Amino acid sequence: MAKIVGTITTSHVPAIGGAIAKGLQSDPYWKPFFDGFPPVREWLAKVKPDVAVIVYNDHGLNFFLDKMPTFAVGAASEYRNADEGWGIPTVAPFRGDPELSWHIIESLVADEFDIVSCQEMVVDHAFTLPMALCWPDQKWPVRTVPVVVNTVQAPLPSARRCYKLGQALGRAIASWPKDEKVVVMGTGGLSHQLDGERAGFINKEFDLKFMDSMIDAPDWATKYSTVELVELTGTQGVELLNWMVARGTLPEKVSKRQANYHIPISNTASGLMVLEPAA
Ligand code: DHB
Ligand code: FE
Repeated sequence: MAKIVGTITTSHVPAIGGAIAKGLQSDPYWKPFFDGFPPVREWLAKVKPDVAVIVYNDHGLNFFLDKMPTFAVGAASEYRNADEGWGIPTVAPFRGDPELSWHIIESLVADEFDIVSCQEMVVDHAFTLPMALCWPDQKWPVRTVPVVVNTVQAPLPSARRCYKLGQALGRAIASWPKDEKVVVMGTGGLSHQLDGERAGFINKEFDLKFMDSMIDAPDWATKYSTVELVELTGTQGVELLNWMVARGTLPEKVSKRQANYHIPISNTASGLMVLEPAA
């Protein structure tokens, strides 16, 4: 049976793509951010996942404001990176795993999550940058399954619904009959707001509480409505819903393998965590 080796949750700021392209990893602005990742790579080299299930929000590349699925899962054999407008270099295509994608879609629908299935899908910075941070040679050693959550346009799914989606996703993966190792990524957050009067808003106190909750109180954030989460974390900080989905795939008891928090990267409080099922 398939096994979830752990989760990697990380911010996905487009400027990271520019910093990678320019080789700025040791630049004083970028170093505290990039320094979070060598332990993640060491962990990946040890656990050697076969597949990455990547939970993120699409930023207008597949789904614009006219058609906005709450939850969508990719079922393509390949996912190409397209430029959704940030002008960062695109990366090599990602191998899909249509068989596993369909297993996940069928299992989620049977579990009463009404998923939009996507046999064609392009992927944006929220998918590509976490992959490039994990595998800087950009020779992707894993097959991939994209799971897309609407964190963009109201009405958003609640934190509770996202946590439950994660639990259902965990059951779907655990019932995959192949002996494969799966890493689940959740991208986006932590607090940031790009638009409106509160542009530049960051909430360090909330972010650090949220990161702590990921370890031993995984449903802590489910007590907040999505409007409260937007108030607490910003209109884009609510991307932390993707972290809730990823965390839901793990058992209640986990061990922390890595954590990093740094303000700011562009407009964003960047967070990074690696969690494993407790031994
Ligand atoms: C920024 C952050 C994001 O999550 C995103 O999708 C785009 C931009 C930023 O801080 O610049
Ligand atoms: Fe984003």
